[in-house]
Amino acid sequence: MREFQIDGHLVLVGLPGAGKSTVGRAVAKVLRRPFLDFDSEIERRTGQSVPRIFAEHGEGAFRAMETALSRELAAAPPMVLAPGGGWVTNPGVMALLRPPGRIIHLRLSPAAALKRLTRSRVVRPLLQRADPAATMEALWAARAHLYQQADAELDVEDVDSQRVIDAVVALAHDRTAGLG
Ligand code: S3P
Repeated sequence: MREFQIDGHLVLVGLPGAGKSTVGRAVAKVLRRPFLDFDSEIERRTGQSVPRIFAEHGEGAFRAMETALSRELAAAPPMVLAPGGGWVTNPGVMALLRPPGRIIHLRLSPAAALKRLTRSRVVRPLLQRADPAATMEALWAARAHLYQQADAELDVEDVDSQRVIDAVVALAHDRTAGLG
């Protein structure tokens, strides 16, 4: 088995629709690490869906759960993590996981993100608004500088998921990519 170079978590960030969960699950399999999807884990623990948490407790409560989960994971053995698209807005969460963790931004335009989401069955409460295109643009405008704090960035706009998976695995093995 090939030695895995990163001692900490490998964290995939990016807009909703970037493919964090799909790519993360496949990468974890290749690297033989556990995979954890934040939204699913929060839903499992609370017994409530993410839209329900937003509706009943508000976005702030959901963000607090994301931060608490990150704090908990800081002490866990290395995994591949797929937090939700807004995880980066929680002050200090990136610093909770790195070092030794490393963060990869799966970058795509807000327009492409929205296009992908229209084919998805997952409900994103932040996009249940009159003008989802404007909302996605606004999310990008507010978050781009945070996503850019990742250790590496992969353009996933017109790239099929297998190529993205291969690229993330390659980055995970490449010390010269600032991920080792
Ligand atoms: C959110 C993205 C969602 C989920 C929640 C909020 C966001 O995850 O965490 O609806 O703020 O961008 P995905 O990025 O997996 O859609």
